[in-house]
Amino acid sequence: MRASLTTLALVYLDFVAAVSNALHSTRDEDYGADDIITRDVCIVGGGSGGTYAATRLRELGQSVVIIEKEPIMGGHTNTYTVPSSGEKIDYGVVVFHNTSIVRNYFAHYNVALGPAITDTANTTVLADFRTGDVINFILPDPSAALVAWVTQLEKYPFLATGINLPDPVPADLLIPFKDFVQKYNLSDLVQTITELGQGYADLLEQPTLYAMKLLSIDLVQTLESGFIATAARDNHLIYDAATIEFTLANSLLLSSHILSVQRNSNSNGISKIVVKTPSGSKLIKAKKIVVAFPPIPSNFEGWDLDDQERDVFNTYKFEAYYTGLVTNTGLPLSTDVDNVGANTPFNIPALPGMYGFDVTAQPGLIDVKYASPFVQSDSTVKSNIQSALGRLQIPGVTTTPGKLEWKAFQAHVPFFDHVTAEDIQGGFYTRANALQGHRRVWYTGAAWESQDSSAIWSFTESLLQNILQAETDNV
Ligand SMILES: Cc1cc2nc3c(=O)[nH]c(=O)nc-3n(C[C@H](O)[C@H](O)[C@H](O)COP(=O)(O)OP(=O)(O)OC[C@H]3O[C@@H](n4cnc5c(N)ncnc54)[C@H](O)[C@@H]3O)c2cc1C
Ligand SMILES: *[C@@H]1O[C@H](CO)[C@@H](O)[C@H](O)[C@H]1NC(C)=O
Ligand SMILES: *[C@@H]1O[C@H](CO)[C@@H](O)[C@H](O)[C@H]1NC(C)=O
Ligand SMILES: *[C@@H]1O[C@H](CO)[C@@H](O)[C@H](O)[C@H]1NC(C)=O
Repeated sequence: MRASLTTLALVYLDFVAAVSNALHSTRDEDYGADDIITRDVCIVGGGSGGTYAATRLRELGQSVVIIEKEPIMGGHTNTYTVPSSGEKIDYGVVVFHNTSIVRNYFAHYNVALGPAITDTANTTVLADFRTGDVINFILPDPSAALVAWVTQLEKYPFLATGINLPDPVPADLLIPFKDFVQKYNLSDLVQTITELGQGYADLLEQPTLYAMKLLSIDLVQTLESGFIATAARDNHLIYDAATIEFTLANSLLLSSHILSVQRNSNSNGISKIVVKTPSGSKLIKAKKIVVAFPPIPSNFEGWDLDDQERDVFNTYKFEAYYTGLVTNTGLPLSTDVDNVGANTPFNIPALPGMYGFDVTAQPGLIDVKYASPFVQSDSTVKSNIQSALGRLQIPGVTTTPGKLEWKAFQAHVPFFDHVTAEDIQGGFYTRANALQGHRRVWYTGAAWESQDSSAIWSFTESLLQNILQAETDNV
């Protein structure tokens, strides 16, 4: 009796193993014909970098498939629709540089661009959100410091696209940005770079490299010539159009995640990717893969990583950036309330905390931004925002934190994938860049460039020839 129970148990265990193997199976015979997707390139992540890569590779004649874990494309591009009017409010990605790459991309999707319109508060109140006290602080004029900054940037032309560093890495790129600011008298720039680099929650402590990648020469030029945005003030339009293009081409898997990846598993160099989708498991057979999600270990579950890959992905650290839209704040219409520190270095906002309450095109609908050097739960962030509203002591204003209503909220975690100065000095980016094309995988997104869509599209553009050429290479 005991023996047969054991036998039964073993049979049962074999059965469980067989079922779970079938779920992850990379054998053609375990899939219906409709569930095998054969493409030149599999792009994982349908946000900024991934959608650009997919669009261009398809234009260049490659067949593609996009795997996106969320039910919509767009990544950090969040657009809210006001229910009563249908009006669109961008509360994620807002602005782009006016470059030919950006213009061509929007032209592909027939989306009209125009000057970015900053929502018109007629008053800005500065307050220290830790106490709620209004601070009489005049934001410094950054013009002179910007000129000095560009002089510094020009020393490092290799930073224009990607993070390509010489060996040894120039010492100034490694020192904490606060020391660099002091060394080169750039104090008047710090408020500006903090504003442009929202979500870099401790930029002053970070290696100067990251400040340089953020406020690039291209971005300085854009500050002078003006940002652009969609004429309809709906940055999600390109992702809506891309959703249609790739759905019609049977090339978009939304709400989908990878169960396993086996690369170059046969002599043809074909990678096999098993994906869980809302309509069951699919087997993708692709010659090449583009990774367009943050390259941190939790995003590579099920992948057949080698030591070279694991070494790079395990090194990243990241921060957290949150955005939302609220109503019923009690704040006056047309007034922005921005966070400054009464006694912080350069009066930058104390974080974790908010950047501010900012008016949108919809009266009474207020954009809120919050960053932290470490991850906080959504409920903690929301309640910290509510408390910050309650602390504000603006003469003549009674805020109503108890009535605060959330219309939208997005946690952008991980944000700002980065490594330490020691890692940079030790050749981290040389090892990371060596992964481009390794095992027929290429990488794009903010970790490889900076948190800037226009720059990410230029970076992605610079990878394309390499991806195309791999077609005929022997691997
Ligand atoms: C609130 C906010 C405002 C911003 N404003 C601007 C701005 O005005 N201008 C600007 O240029 N930049 C802005 N940025 C910076 C932004 O980071 C970049 O523009 C850009 O979106 C980053 O591109 P990415 O491709 O690296 O990431 P994302 O655009 O986030 O794309 C990554 C995609 O991968 C998906 N994904 C993640 N993990 C997986 C997985 N395991 N499997 C499958 N899919 C996965 C995600 O869901 C996402 O769709 C802003 C960012 C935030 C958060
Ligand atoms: C963008 O640049 C192009 C070419 O220089 C110019 O024609 C166009 O007016 C610019 N657009 C905006 C909105 O500034
Ligand atoms: C530092 O820069 C400011 C402008 O940002 C300038 O007014 C000042 O003279 C500079 N100081 C020195 C010592 O160069
Ligand atoms: C500011 O905007 C509000 C709301 O649009 C308006 O009522 C007020 O008159 C404006 N104030 C000034 C000084 O323009």
